[in-house]
Amino acid sequence: VNRDRFPGIASAGWVRLDGPAGSQVVDSVPGAIHDYLAGADIANLHGFSAASIATDRLLDDARSSIGSMLNAEREGVVFGSSMTVLAAHLADALAPTLNPGDEIVCTQLDHDANVSPWLRAAAKAGATVRFAEVDPVSLELSVEAVADQLSSRTRIVALTAASNVVGSKPDLPAIIQEAHRVGAVAVLDAVHSIPHEPLDVGSLDADVVLASAYKWFGPHLGVMWLRDELIGQLSPPKVRPAPTVGPEAWERGALPFELLPGVIGAADYMQSLDWVAAAEHEAELMQILIKGVDSIEGVSRIGQPLRGTATVAFTVHGVTPEDIARRLAVRKIAISHGNFYAVELLKVAGLQSCLRAGVLHYNSSSDVEAFLNALSDVTVESTRQTTGSGER
Ligand SMILES: Cc1ncc(COP(=O)(O)O)c(C=O)c1O
Repeated sequence: VNRDRFPGIASAGWVRLDGPAGSQVVDSVPGAIHDYLAGADIANLHGFSAASIATDRLLDDARSSIGSMLNAEREGVVFGSSMTVLAAHLADALAPTLNPGDEIVCTQLDHDANVSPWLRAAAKAGATVRFAEVDPVSLELSVEAVADQLSSRTRIVALTAASNVVGSKPDLPAIIQEAHRVGAVAVLDAVHSIPHEPLDVGSLDADVVLASAYKWFGPHLGVMWLRDELIGQLSPPKVRPAPTVGPEAWERGALPFELLPGVIGAADYMQSLDWVAAAEHEAELMQILIKGVDSIEGVSRIGQPLRGTATVAFTVHGVTPEDIARRLAVRKIAISHGNFYAVELLKVAGLQSCLRAGVLHYNSSSDVEAFLNALSDVTVESTRQTTGSGER
């Protein structure tokens, strides 16, 4: 679907199944960034020059684009260098509102960017972090697993919309409802889910949403949305002259304004995409991917989520993920290896690291087939070499 709109995938001769690490950029993005930098509207905010007024408008337009992409109020949209930075700012702002004995619920499914800041905030406040546990086989997170950790002391529930390793997707509306039932703030990491599925913040009722434009076809810029009470009241650490509340309180100095036209381009693309066709296409490719991975001897898939994004994590028996990823790269197949910063999930899986192949809507069945053929070859090749060296 729309493959020809992704110059990076069409031209380079690589099979790109590394989308969960960072997607390819849609064709409207580079020109939009270039036009800003080559134009006459470069300035800082809040001045009276035409360029400054245009910069105010650009930032406003970017907030509106994200607001309409997420179906959320534009006034709550904040930009920052990455999701990791924004999540840390959020925890720094919420830490002073916590009391000793308060509880934060994190999950074993999450990327550490939505865990470590809460561990630090809890340590600072004398609060406790409780972990909602995933099913050790399917690596899915049930509503009950989160509900089990909630109490009248729970102040924050930090969860992911989808695992960036195995793709599993928790039942968000039900979990957010449970969080609200005990009066907790629900902080949602939507970094991995958004390129697979639009997020309707309005109907989800989340309190904070974190995302990263480079995962959904745009430039490297983080996005955070906060509900009106939070953006209107929460005061992040800041320099003294900066506003106390509102988006600019969080943005800490000049933003990379040149990236905003690119973010708008990516958000427009997200809203123009035929998501039904994209989801069907991803599901078809995922079937081929799972069947293929399961049929290669020596390859073990990690987790068996019933509800998930088109993402597969696996290991190859007796060979390090790094070695497999390197051998695949020699064949111009790009997949990812490592722990993906999903510290708790990898512990549950009993692994230091694994491999991950992810499909986005711009991938084709020939990408998946080329990957499977190459994986089969490198598995045989590396297993033979490992066995060989063992015999010597
Ligand atoms: C699920 C998830 N959350 C958070 C992050 C961190 O995002 P960023 O690179 O914008 O800090 C990632 C990055 O891979 C991710 O996959």
